[in-house]
Amino acid sequence: MAKPNPLKHPLLKYFISILLVSLSYILGIYTSSNNSTSPPLHEQKQPLNCHQLNFSLPVLDFESHHTLSPPQEPLRNLQFFNFCPPNFTNYCPCHDPSRETDFTAERFFSRERHCPEPYEKPMCLVPRPAGYKRPFSWPKSRDYAWFKNLPFKELSEVKKTQNWVRLEGDLLVFPGGGTSFRKGVKGYVDEIKRFVPLKSGSIRTVLDVGCGVFSMGSRCLISFPLFSQCKWLDGLYLMEIDRVLRPGGYWIFSGPPINWKANYKGSEVGAQELEQEQARLEDLAVRLCWKKVAEKGAIAAWRKPNNHIHCIIKSRIWKSPRFCTNSDPDAGWYKKMEPCITPLLNVTDIHDISGGSLEKWSKRLNIAPPRTKSEGISGAAFEGDNQLWKRRNNLSIVYDRGLIGTYMNWCSILDILLEMHRILRPEGAVIIRDHVDIIVEVKGIAEKMKWNGRILHSENGAFHPEKILLIDTCC
Ligand SMILES: *[C@@H]1O[C@H](CO)[C@@H](O)[C@H](O)[C@H]1NC(C)=O
Ligand SMILES: *[C@@H]1O[C@H](CO)[C@@H](O)[C@H](O)[C@H]1NC(C)=O
Ligand SMILES: *[C@@H]1O[C@H](CO)[C@@H](O)[C@H](O)[C@H]1NC(C)=O
Ligand SMILES: *[C@@H]1O[C@H](CO)[C@@H](O)[C@H](O)[C@H]1NC(C)=O
Repeated sequence: MAKPNPLKHPLLKYFISILLVSLSYILGIYTSSNNSTSPPLHEQKQPLNCHQLNFSLPVLDFESHHTLSPPQEPLRNLQFFNFCPPNFTNYCPCHDPSRETDFTAERFFSRERHCPEPYEKPMCLVPRPAGYKRPFSWPKSRDYAWFKNLPFKELSEVKKTQNWVRLEGDLLVFPGGGTSFRKGVKGYVDEIKRFVPLKSGSIRTVLDVGCGVFSMGSRCLISFPLFSQCKWLDGLYLMEIDRVLRPGGYWIFSGPPINWKANYKGSEVGAQELEQEQARLEDLAVRLCWKKVAEKGAIAAWRKPNNHIHCIIKSRIWKSPRFCTNSDPDAGWYKKMEPCITPLLNVTDIHDISGGSLEKWSKRLNIAPPRTKSEGISGAAFEGDNQLWKRRNNLSIVYDRGLIGTYMNWCSILDILLEMHRILRPEGAVIIRDHVDIIVEVKGIAEKMKWNGRILHSENGAFHPEKILLIDTCC
């Protein structure tokens, strides 16, 4: 039976690449063990004779194991990509300060994500900082970073009083503190576990978005720039959190104004402001139909309802914001925030979970979510995933399976690989699973970036067109 090629679908490509970026980052941390110094910037144009990763897997041999003709290797006269100029070292394409003035500052729009237009994209490799050193291996990398790799003093100076990051000689040291949580992430999560059933498997979403810089980022490897503005904006901020929370999801908020009584050491006027700020927050939370779960010390948690039946009935009494008429709960980027509540799907009974109840994590990962059925996608079609991806251009199912994902509106494999090159530091690894045609194309581009690639069969065997490409980003 000829299977459609799921991997030709653009969304899947982006999604895979996002997962892989995370994965390769993790792998990169695990695989870099020595702290040797990388060559200076001007030598980066030469291929490095560096340590290659040992994946201890058999080398793929197309000839001897099956009847498919061997894929055409790209031609060998490679035109290597050049490095961008040195001022691109900290280039972040969708958050580029040099382009901020192109956008309105109203509601901090200029600080939001703005990716370059196709003609603006630099077709070059972002160079590592001068004097770049191989990062520490995990778990030491959690607490130490070479200053040369992140040569910015601002954070350690601004956050000096908070025990968050210190500059010690040529090292940035992260003592695992934070404004209110001197026991670090472990202690913080233990506190949250006291009122949010983190281990039950029934959790849909827990958002912990506040306004501080917190060592969570360095531990969890992923950050969400969506909420980076952290401004009240007449409550828009909370309405945006409500939109992103799934039914029954939790919002954790820690730090000021929560616990203002205990923490406030300044004048009475300041304390009053914090008190009012907390009152404003509590009030809007009620009007969004959230239920306060707990407030302990500096942490407070609210829960979004499982459906909006009660909320619709109460909305006039509570003077709730209106329900949005056209708001996509799954939108990622480029969503204009609106002063309205994104409605949950209607249910018939007050005890129902909007959109249907999900299996517990981690069973949820491999089972068709109820929403697929309402959209006429049968469980059988879901099984292989492939059909599903062909039919959908929608993140809801990704979210309902307990995964995270986002769209990229960059359309070519080359764009994605250049972006992966920017994000991955030397000595990382990339694993790509795709149709053999795409694998061969990716390998060709990777070689032009001076990455070493190796093609392997997947667990589906030699006769299956799906292959795996292992890339060692040593250069
Ligand atoms: C790779 O690793 C495997 C197992 O860890 C080992 O048996 C093998 O000799 C290694 N190969 C090379 C080339 O180092
Ligand atoms: C680097 O410098 C050039 C020339 O001054 C400038 O046009 C470009 O915008 C800079 N790039 C970045 C990412 O700062
Ligand atoms: C959901 O219920 C509300 C209130 O009963 C109603 O106004 C709305 O039209 C319903 N939406 C759908 C899609 O049925
Ligand atoms: C995604 O799926 C949801 C739920 O079925 C649907 O309401 C929404 O319109 C879809 N969004 C897009 C962008 O297709």
